[in-house]
Amino acid sequence: MTSTFLLVLLLSRSLLTVASPGLDGSQGVSTPLFRRSFPPTDPEKLGIWAQIQREKLEAKYHTPDLHRRGTGVNLLVNQDADSSYIGSIAIGTPPSTFSVILDTGSADLWIASEHCTSGCNSVSKFVTSSSTTYNNSSVPFNVTYGSGSASGYMGEDVIQMAGFTVANQSFAICDTVSDGLLQSPASGLMGLGFQTIASSGAVPLWETLVTSKTWSEPVMGFHLTRFGDVPTARTLEPGGSFDMGFTNTTLYDGDIEYIYLPQAGTYWLLSITKVTAQGNEIPIPGVLSSAAIDTGTTLVGGPGTLVARIYDQIPGSYAGSGAYQNYYIYPCNTQVNVTLSFGGTNWAVSPQDFRLQKISDTQCLGAFFQLETASTSPDWIVGDTFLKNVYTAFRYSPASVGFATLSSTAMSLNGHVSEPVPSPTMNSPGAGPTITAAGSSGTSQPTSKGHVNQFFVHPFLIPLIYFAMNFHTMLY
Ligand SMILES: *[C@@H]1O[C@H](CO)[C@@H](O)[C@H](O)[C@H]1NC(C)=O
Ligand SMILES: *[C@@H]1O[C@H](CO)[C@@H](O)[C@H](O)[C@H]1NC(C)=O
Ligand SMILES: *[C@@H]1O[C@H](CO)[C@@H](O)[C@H](O)[C@H]1NC(C)=O
Ligand SMILES: *[C@@H]1O[C@H](CO)[C@@H](O)[C@H](O)[C@H]1NC(C)=O
Ligand SMILES: *[C@@H]1O[C@H](CO)[C@@H](O)[C@H](O)[C@H]1NC(C)=O
Ligand SMILES: *[C@@H]1O[C@H](CO)[C@@H](O)[C@H](O)[C@H]1NC(C)=O
Repeated sequence: MTSTFLLVLLLSRSLLTVASPGLDGSQGVSTPLFRRSFPPTDPEKLGIWAQIQREKLEAKYHTPDLHRRGTGVNLLVNQDADSSYIGSIAIGTPPSTFSVILDTGSADLWIASEHCTSGCNSVSKFVTSSSTTYNNSSVPFNVTYGSGSASGYMGEDVIQMAGFTVANQSFAICDTVSDGLLQSPASGLMGLGFQTIASSGAVPLWETLVTSKTWSEPVMGFHLTRFGDVPTARTLEPGGSFDMGFTNTTLYDGDIEYIYLPQAGTYWLLSITKVTAQGNEIPIPGVLSSAAIDTGTTLVGGPGTLVARIYDQIPGSYAGSGAYQNYYIYPCNTQVNVTLSFGGTNWAVSPQDFRLQKISDTQCLGAFFQLETASTSPDWIVGDTFLKNVYTAFRYSPASVGFATLSSTAMSLNGHVSEPVPSPTMNSPGAGPTITAAGSSGTSQPTSKGHVNQFFVHPFLIPLIYFAMNFHTMLY
């Protein structure tokens, strides 16, 4: 028993220091583990640790079926100066392409239906009768997010994304959508959280692909561009990429620092261990530290008392009221440096991301806002304000979220207003012409974000119904 364990320990120690090749032989696997005592002394953690070591050995010595494994890239659209990041899918037979908000904070896939009567003005809609493979399951669907809701019926059809095909994906066709939730070209939303938080109970497309071992690696990567600080930015700009089944080493420097999810997958939930503002540490008590890593939320929301302490570090800042309730206002000439840590590196939020919007000649709105704690269970929602500053990897197994420093190549994609905006595509190699959905051309108008006193509803796409779950008892 002891000697077997020692052998595993020795083998795994060597695995940790040797960079193993990717399963497809092309991508390097990032192996650094999170910084915890090694091996853990707590019996439960030791069990998890041992299991992870076993999985790593199996991954290394199992000969993969290369024909069944692959990678795919979905080029994103940055909508409204970093408000939403939109990818594309194709639905049905013959396939029609649609743009969908990619949301790691929820787990349902839904699309505006041809019968949509509210909230779908000028968005492309799915016409079920145009697909010979669509089945209406007649099961009602509804989901409520932090910034709106959608309802309709469940159905099944063939869905393609970035060259992958799922033959019978369950998803919802919605005929009632809250105003402001969808803005063309977005026709719906694709949740990239775990099935456990799907309102519909359906297995998300990404989870079908990962559990069927279709992907080279059980991971999805995000690089999100920044246009929020560019006055001439158009409504739609190139948004970066969604990497399926691999991480794109061209987009980051060094290794990805993975942090294990402290509980089985629901949201992509980590614990915030440290926050600094203007170089000063804001202590984060364990009971206020759970943080959903959420591409579908524009900003960063946190517990009221702690967000207030961040602004305490900024002379001249004050709490907003009216339309700016739960936000803070601060002098625009202050360069605000905030960092977040999830147990390792202190990751910096750039001052231009912290500075959400100018509301007068001298006053700016900050991108960190106070969550209404009564209704929320993750204490923090860490959205695009933070994620624009890192390459993010959402890894299924071992379940973890990783961050890496953006490469100069990735940074050079920020603020390039003359680049064409990606069109929706299904990326099927050799599958015929790319179908372009309406309302998605690259010739969009400059965004109105720069206008003084114009305040947007910032998407906050975390499902509210699950906030009743008590995460603290599971986490701590
Ligand atoms: C699906 O079935 C439900 C219930 O029978 C019906 O109300 C709905 O209109 C149908 N939707 C489509 C797109 O056919
Ligand atoms: C949403 O769906 C749930 C379960 O399917 C149902 O109990 C609830 O009444 C629905 N809510 C709305 C607003 O349709
Ligand atoms: C629709 O239902 C039929 C009959 O149950 C089934 O054969 C077909 O595969 C289904 N289509 C999809 C896309 O799931
Ligand atoms: C989808 O198809 C697979 C394989 O054909 C089958 O095992 C699975 O039950 C189907 N799922 C649904 C939701 O129809
Ligand atoms: C990785 O990102 C670079 C820079 O955007 C891009 O040129 C390259 O095609 C990407 N690699 C893959 C495999 O998509
Ligand atoms: C913020 O960080 C920058 C770069 O590290 C530094 O030059 C600046 O002084 C910092 N500002 C404050 C208020 O700490």
